[in-house]
Amino acid sequence: MSTPRLLAIETSCDETAAAVVDSSLHVHSSVISSQIDLHAAFGGVVPEVAGRAHVELLESVVAEALEVAGGTMTDPGIEAVAVTCGPGLVGSLLVGLSGAKAMAMAWGVPFIGVNHLEGHLFTAQLDTVPVGFPHLTLLVSGGHTMFIAVEAPGRYRLLGETIDDAAGEAYDKVARYLGLGYPGGPAIDALAATGDPKAVAFPRALRGDNLDVSFSGLKTSVIRYVEKHPEVSVADLAASFQEAVVDVLATKAARAAEEIGAVAIVLGGGVAANSALRARLAAVADEAGIECRLPSMAMCTDNAAMIGAAGWHRLHADGPSRLDLPANPSLPLDLLERTS
Ligand code: KG4
Ligand code: ZN
Repeated sequence: MSTPRLLAIETSCDETAAAVVDSSLHVHSSVISSQIDLHAAFGGVVPEVAGRAHVELLESVVAEALEVAGGTMTDPGIEAVAVTCGPGLVGSLLVGLSGAKAMAMAWGVPFIGVNHLEGHLFTAQLDTVPVGFPHLTLLVSGGHTMFIAVEAPGRYRLLGETIDDAAGEAYDKVARYLGLGYPGGPAIDALAATGDPKAVAFPRALRGDNLDVSFSGLKTSVIRYVEKHPEVSVADLAASFQEAVVDVLATKAARAAEEIGAVAIVLGGGVAANSALRARLAAVADEAGIECRLPSMAMCTDNAAMIGAAGWHRLHADGPSRLDLPANPSLPLDLLERTS
């Protein structure tokens, strides 16, 4: 008998995505239709435009994901439908959620609502062996920067987070200021490879005892520096800014991992694609003699395979969701109480 499969759908922001994932977290298909070109002219995601694009794209993206995995819309070969129900843009979430409910009903299979953030926590576990516990997950995206102790499957303890801008948000804002376009993370990452990370010694915020971080001061420092030194090389600026971000994240990740006796450091979220962060975290884990789990590049930014992985976990832990489950644009990650 083959391993059971589910169809997963992700439409929380500007990616329309569908995937077929089995209960061993093997990815049979992962289709991502990015709307970046639609939004780039506006310098960011326009919610109204995103919602309409999801409506236009969802059916063909789902059909392609099923087809690549050997199924069809009438004979999907899946045993459940998982979908992101929050956090995200409400109009975008509703498109995926309504579609997923309709498909689950039509196919007579369970429906599972998934937290987008929990999806990111699972990306480094796709197509590989399970990771041990406890582990430290660094979740770094456009909206979140969190140091999370994962004590057991689904048991998340928040150790620290950003007190202002998320890491990805800082990349996007600095890139916009430097005229590098949207999204800013990949642009700064590429430019930084040609610059000197030691050219400008930007401040490392919050190097105190706790595990919180701050990035809004760093963004202001970049702006002040350019005002005073308009002739500075943009590549050197990008490299120095990136060095400051990565240094703070890696220092705190190392401390967090040590504090909880982690057997591994796991990375997730859009900023997990950052080349400097990946290299530094691997070095930090190596030094601590623990495993480092980096998601594949394709799984860093929003995708449905990660929603499928979290969907299997939720189905086993909680059972199916009710068909009247609402979209929740500010759905928080379900955390154990904070300890530090
Ligand atoms: O997880 P994600 O796709 O969307 C959210 O759920 O927020 O993350 C998007 C964020 C954006 O801020 C983008 O600039 C950043 O991830 N990002 C990067 C890189 N690739 C994407 N940041 C730094 N370096 C990268 N290579
Ligand atoms: Zn995301």
